Amino acid sequence: MKNYVAPSVLAANKDKLLEEIESVEKLGAEYLHFDVMDGIFVPNTSYTLEDLKNIANKHHMVNDVHIMIINPFQLAKEFAKAGADIVTFHYEACKDDNEVLKTIESIKKEGKKVGLSIKPKTSVEVYDKFLDKIDLALIMSVEPGFGGQKFIPNALDKISYLRNKIDENKLDVLIEVDGGINSETGKQAREAGADILVAGTYIFGHEDKKERIDSLR
Ligand code: DX5
Ligand code: ZN
Repeated sequence: MKNYVAPSVLAANKDKLLEEIESVEKLGAEYLHFDVMDGIFVPNTSYTLEDLKNIANKHHMVNDVHIMIINPFQLAKEFAKAGADIVTFHYEACKDDNEVLKTIESIKKEGKKVGLSIKPKTSVEVYDKFLDKIDLALIMSVEPGFGGQKFIPNALDKISYLRNKIDENKLDVLIEVDGGINSETGKQAREAGADILVAGTYIFGHEDKKERIDSLR
């Protein structure tokens, strides 16, 4: 199991985004979680492809790009080309399993890592068919679309389920959890087997960023 922290810049001050990114890099964050929303798959918009291009090579963390958009098969590769190291798309945004597989391939073709995400109401068993084809499983512990929501505990069972599958089958897949993470829910998620904790509101906008990041280890 790994022990990574991924600050989500959805909660960062967008007027000084590069400074915010630099601050979490200095404090040892390994991943930079970058949320893309289209206002259709989720009822909100956030960063865009152009925004990613502006920051992707301005730091050395892993560009962990979470696309909450419809038509990932058409668009995921654009994010791969724009500097994402990992492109994570949503199972629910695909019309069928074949489209999930085609999207996975489209990202791999660009030489990038592939993440597959599920919303809180989606069963974790959907991963059974795809786990040997992806690099990362992103369990949403809030409804995607907004930062600052409360952690939904059913994420913990999903994480444990995946931890067992991955370990039993000796797969090289990271488990990431996103939404409502703080020192308490982060600890629960680690105990369940998560490798990467995403945290937005818990980290950004606070003086004691260092203590907060350290508390997620
Ligand atoms: C929500 C996003 C999250 C968000 C998490 O749809 O995917 O990455 O930034 O925010 P917090 O940590 O505030 O719950
Ligand atoms: Zn996210």
